[in-house]
Amino acid sequence: MTLLSGGEEQIISLASLILRSGGVVAIPTETVYGLAGNISIDSSIKKIYELKNRPVGHPLIVHIESMEQLHEYSINVPRYVEILAKRFWPGPLTFILYKSDKVSNLVTGGHNTVAIRMPNHRLTLDLIKAVGSPLAAPSANKFGRVSPTCPEHVIEEFNGLIDVLDGGECEIGIESTIIDATMADSYKILRPGSITSSDLDAALKDYINNFSLVPEKSSVSKVIAPGSCTRHYSPNKQLIGFNNCSEIIRLMDNYRSIYIIHYSDVLVHSDNFYYRMIKNPSQYAKHLYCALRLGDKSSAQVIAIEFPPREMEWNAVLDRLKRSLSA
Ligand code: TXA
Ligand code: MG
Repeated sequence: MTLLSGGEEQIISLASLILRSGGVVAIPTETVYGLAGNISIDSSIKKIYELKNRPVGHPLIVHIESMEQLHEYSINVPRYVEILAKRFWPGPLTFILYKSDKVSNLVTGGHNTVAIRMPNHRLTLDLIKAVGSPLAAPSANKFGRVSPTCPEHVIEEFNGLIDVLDGGECEIGIESTIIDATMADSYKILRPGSITSSDLDAALKDYINNFSLVPEKSSVSKVIAPGSCTRHYSPNKQLIGFNNCSEIIRLMDNYRSIYIIHYSDVLVHSDNFYYRMIKNPSQYAKHLYCALRLGDKSSAQVIAIEFPPREMEWNAVLDRLKRSLSA
């Protein structure tokens, strides 16, 4: 079985049964699909690492459905986390906090911190309630590869071996913003996402007088997001970035056939394939991984992608592109 089928209640109770008995299920979220296991069952967490070929030192995000669970699975939660959670949850914001004893070292890769978020997808929130415990879930792709943004991507990625809770296409399309919230009065963005540093500042503006913001790239934070510097989010084919029309024309001289992901008007040639993006950060993010997967599936020799502007609002997309480009 791949896609869990039936009415909503039926598929949630089936998925919950699988998770309560230690199996794994791919779950929809507003960002990307996750490969979920029950955090109370170690064998379930081990399966996730095995299926993804993920090194054990790379911890998983814990998905919760209530503020009670935040306090059950983490300790020393700073006041600003509660303010941000109230504003952005359920939503694409993950906090790194000190873990409580209820979180096993398998989930955190041996770290004393845990990544926690409340995803904004009704089916998944209902599923977490039905299971009765949070779900640990990394993105449902093989380690280092492109995250899945629809059920078909998960089925392809794992050759139909994983049960998938079908929640349709993901609204946002790139992974959540991660912030290190282990410090009492400051935080640091570890992974940019659709919630930006100005969104965070705006949510904290009334609290900010007593709150010293740690600028990004500050060395104060001791937490690093493992794997964040290595190559990630990569298609199988070589991925090349380009900035303008003359650069893509030059590439056309070097390659027989190119899968071109672009938003500007580019020279059209029948040997190539074209995927038109919209020049808007959230639309570009939503379609990025799907475009990369289509490029992989095409018969093109390489994939070329037009860089978005190097501007603040494009930070999350630029981060993913930087890490998915071929060396
Ligand atoms: O949107 C998302 O965040 C998606 C959906 C499924 O929720 N999940 C996701 O998970 O992107 P994953 O495993 O692909 O990325 C999680 C990141 C990894 O870079 C991991 O190293 C970091 O979170 N992380 C998890 N626990 C951590 C911890 N205790 N300390 C530092 N980084 C942590
Ligand atoms: Mg991932």
